Parts: sequence; C-alpha cells; structure tokens
Amino acid sequence: MMKNIKDTILFIQDIYKTKEFIPLHAPTFIGNEKKYLIETIDTTFVSSVGAFVDQFEKKIAEVTKTKKAVAVVNGTAGIQVALRLVGVKTGDEVITQALTFIATANSIVYNGASPIFLDVDIDTMGLSATSVAQFLEEYGELRDNGCFNKKTGKKISACLPMHTFGFPVHIDELINVCKAWNIPIVEDAAESLGSEYKNKPTGSIGKIGVFSFNGNKIVTCGGGGAIVTNDENIGIKGKYLTTTAKVPHSYEFYHDELGYNFRMPNLNAALACAQLEQLGNFLENKRSLAGEYKTFFDANGIKFRSETPNTKANYWLMCVELECQKDRDLFLIETNNSKVMTRPIWRLMHHLPMYKNCQRDEQLNASFLEQRIVNIPSSVRMY
Ligand SMILES: Cc1ncc(COP(=O)(O)O)c(C=O)c1O
Repeated sequence: MMKNIKDTILFIQDIYKTKEFIPLHAPTFIGNEKKYLIETIDTTFVSSVGAFVDQFEKKIAEVTKTKKAVAVVNGTAGIQVALRLVGVKTGDEVITQALTFIATANSIVYNGASPIFLDVDIDTMGLSATSVAQFLEEYGELRDNGCFNKKTGKKISACLPMHTFGFPVHIDELINVCKAWNIPIVEDAAESLGSEYKNKPTGSIGKIGVFSFNGNKIVTCGGGGAIVTNDENIGIKGKYLTTTAKVPHSYEFYHDELGYNFRMPNLNAALACAQLEQLGNFLENKRSLAGEYKTFFDANGIKFRSETPNTKANYWLMCVELECQKDRDLFLIETNNSKVMTRPIWRLMHHLPMYKNCQRDEQLNASFLEQRIVNIPSSVRMY
C-alpha cells in the first residue's frame, strides 16, 4: 500500500506539474471574467438587478435544457426554496441520503421539516430507489392529500436525491417509486452541472433541480446558485419568492407573502457568465484527467470511481475507493503530508449532533463508502 501511495503522490505532482501544494479543486479564470466584471462596475449595476443576471438565467436554462432558471445567492438557499415550491411545509418530512454535504439536510430543516435518511447505491453513491421503495412499503401510507409516514404520522412531502461528486443517481428508478407514492423529487444537483443521465442533464429530470456555483464547483461565480424547472409556474413563483415576493410596481413596495432576499448579485452573475462560456472545455479537460487517473490507478491496484452505464459524469471531484478505513487513513495522511490535498467523503448526517435522532434505515452502503472514499485533486489543468 505504502508504495502505491508514494507512486500516487508522484503521479499527481507530475500531472499538475508542481511539487507545491495541490488543492482539491481550484477555479480557473482564463476567459472573459475580468472583462465582464469591469463592465459590471462601469454600468454601476453591481447588485441584484442587471443584464448579467438575466443572461445567466437564460444560459443556465439552455445548458440544463429546462424551461426556466432562477439565479439565487447560493445552492443551499436554492434547495430551501425548491422544497417550499414543491409543497414542503413545517412539520413535514423529506426523504434524502445521509451520505451528502450538510447543505442538503440543512435546507430541509430551514423549511421546518425533518429529513429521513435512506441508503445510497454503491455504484452511484446517490440515493437508492431500492432503499426508498423498501422504506415506503414499510412506513408509507398513501392518502388523498399525499404520502404519510405511518411511524410519525407526518407527511412525506418531497424526495431529495443528490448527485454525488457529479455522478448521476439512478433517477428513472427513483421517479418510478416516488410517482407511485405521490412524492415530488427535487434534485440536489449542486455538484453535477454538465452531468447527464440517459442524455438528459441532471437537475432537469425531477420537478426542480438546484445547482451551486460556489468557489469549489466546476463553474464558479464566487458564491451563487440556480433553481431550474420545466414547470413554468414553479419557475415564476421561484423568482418571485427569491426576490422578496414583491408585487411588481414601478415605485411602490407591496409584498403579498413571506419571500426571501436570495438574489444573486449582478457582479457574481457576470463572473458566472464568463465561466459558463468555458463549461464545455472544463468538462472535456476533466474527462481527460479522469482517463489518465483511471489508467494509473488500474495499473496500481487502487479503485478509481468512473461514471456508471447510461450516464455522463462531469467529474467534478474525482475519487478513489480504498480497501478499508486503515488504508484510507494512511492514504489521507501521506498525501496531505506531501501537500497533495485529499479529503474523505462526508461523515454520514446521522453521525452529526443535529441529525442523530432522525429516522433512517441501516445505511449499509453509505457506511461502506464513508470508510473508503477519498477525493483527489480534480482541478482543470491549464496546459
Ligand atoms: C451536495 C451539495 N448540496 C448543496 C450545496 C450547497 O451549495 P452552496 O455552497 O452554493 O450553498 C453543495 C455545495 O456547496 C453541495 O455540494
């Protein structure tokens, strides 16, 4: 194992052509970023209204092949609102995975609802349709006004799968299960801009999808998010709620329900527009890196995670699966000591104090992955 780790460090230093610190994912600004930012400052429209916000929404709808995109301040806020838009209310429950970034679970609680944590599939690391079906067969009760949890008596008002590191979940299967139980799907597509499931962009398949443009994502605008949907009414309502629910009027302020100031500033949208122009190149660049990694790890007896059949991953954060937790810990220590940044996958949500009492299943696959998956440097290379 030790030799494999040393060789891995040398390989990564070689592909990034440096012995200095190699981050997991650094942004690349080689397009129109500065030009558009200066343009924004020159127009003085730096805040939440401006041409770049409109352009960004148009471009995201185009890239994700959806009818409407709403720019928001970050992905977390986007998921919070998306859940409200599909009808999640205080006291409800939302099915999601425990193997995820904290924002997925938090966005449920921001709506006054509680998460139910169900297992992931081993191949995709995303919410498993089999786990959801099994849970609903045991606890689900279908009534006229939706699906209820027999154990808690609460309504299960949404299902929130997450496309881990850009690997699409088996969403057709999930849609079949959730349709039978009348549960709408919101895709946490924060990590998967550019990924596809059976030629459809992730985020476009459920009722609503949400993306993040945080600094570490494949395309960044500093901080930002987007809600996408093929339901125009939901899209219009999404824009309304995230822009303070103000009734349109040229000078009067009148708000007819509780909205949010979740708007993306034009300054950030400018950066996003410049970055989106390069999405195709970034995707290609990362795919070629994934190919090089695969060849190397195959030859060195370490399992590199590749996209599953019928899907296209954006290879946002690439990862390896180590044999056991002991190997994983050694890999983490040695690589980080050599300034090659690596990071274990997230702790399962129910291992965190806020979520320890949530209803969940056995989490066999999620626990297996929690002990073995490690992210490796995945930035776009500029040469
Ligand atoms: C799975 C997942 N969901 C949600 C988010 C939240 O996005 P943001 O950081 O833009 O709030 C992120 C990323 O940061 C994420 O990785």
